[in-house]
Amino acid sequence: MITSKLPNVGTTIFTTMSQLAAETGALNLSQGFPDFNGPQALLDAVGKHIALGHNQYAPMTGLPVLRQQVAAKIARSYGATVNPDSEVTITPGATEAIFCAIQAVIRNGDEVIVFDPCYDSYEPSVELAGGRCVHVQLSLQGFALDFEKIKAALSPRTRMIILNSPHNPTGALISRAELDQLAELIRDRDIYLVSDEVYEHLVFDGVPHASVLAHEELYQRAFVVSSFGKTYHVTGWKTGYVVAPAALTAELRKVHQYVNFCGVTPLQYALADFMAEHPEHVEELPAFYQAKRDLFCDLLAPSRFSFTRVTGTYFQLVDYSQIRPDLDDAAMSLWMTREHGVATIPVSVFYQHPPQGQRLVRLCFAKREETLQQAAEKLCVI
Ligand SMILES: Cc1ncc(COP(=O)(O)O)c(C=O)c1O
Repeated sequence: MITSKLPNVGTTIFTTMSQLAAETGALNLSQGFPDFNGPQALLDAVGKHIALGHNQYAPMTGLPVLRQQVAAKIARSYGATVNPDSEVTITPGATEAIFCAIQAVIRNGDEVIVFDPCYDSYEPSVELAGGRCVHVQLSLQGFALDFEKIKAALSPRTRMIILNSPHNPTGALISRAELDQLAELIRDRDIYLVSDEVYEHLVFDGVPHASVLAHEELYQRAFVVSSFGKTYHVTGWKTGYVVAPAALTAELRKVHQYVNFCGVTPLQYALADFMAEHPEHVEELPAFYQAKRDLFCDLLAPSRFSFTRVTGTYFQLVDYSQIRPDLDDAAMSLWMTREHGVATIPVSVFYQHPPQGQRLVRLCFAKREETLQQAAEKLCVI
């Protein structure tokens, strides 16, 4: 019998709910991916580069043209200068970048502070590195960082803090003032940051995304991660990047080199072309997704779900206390999928210790207008 190194890991809820949606024919608002295609020019560019013979290994660090486009976008979006050769690495998805950053830094016995509700890939990556996650809950109202709790969780063994803004599953943003407060708190400590910013361009109502890339002090100890999958509507391409100061990048690349070595070549060429030709894509993304959020929330307004419109990501949390307070959120998600034809994700799966009585499910609104309309019709009669 094998003794598992990850005894607490099973099939993720995202796989389970997507499978159930497929089996039952429910609308899948559970897993976070669009039901529409990426921009045609981007898709066409992949075919072009495959035909041109760009089908062999890319450089380990990523294609130089793509790293240059990433650095140019960072300069435009955040006014920050990063060196595309020594600070930017292209990875097969943000997930690989996060894994490599953790392996590069975390040793046996180190502690990593994560914030609940928390994206599911962080903890197994920390455990495989021999570390331990210390879970700190975000505030129940507004899901903000709770600095008293962070202070209490810090120990001499704390080696990393993992931030995620815009935040999955709550849609909350970390503000510049909070980043300043965090910088002050860890100023004299040997602590690294992973800043998971895969939803960096999905921010609404004119609220800016406070990137760690634009925070000079925090950036010195940070791995900032993003995902082309989220930004260009192509999650299945599993292509992302990580930006970190040169010394940290060098250590991360030692791991990345032996996990995947490099990302998929024609996809990198296509992304580089598209970014050069369509810099407006990222500028238009907030309005594009805000329109979806607003359509979905307007359609849900007559329902018995209660909610506050999210300020970031493509997820909307809804509270179902008025509908089935007797069901916990896992049971509610199954009931909604089987009986009402809409698959959702229960928020408790993102917690080490789910708050008692919390009645929240997560709905993904990265969907075509028809899908959102059909889903809202079903949700309004529950
Ligand atoms: C918070 C967060 N981080 C990372 C990822 C993974 O991104 P990728 O698909 O590029 O690996 C996701 C995808 O859902 C996510 O929600």
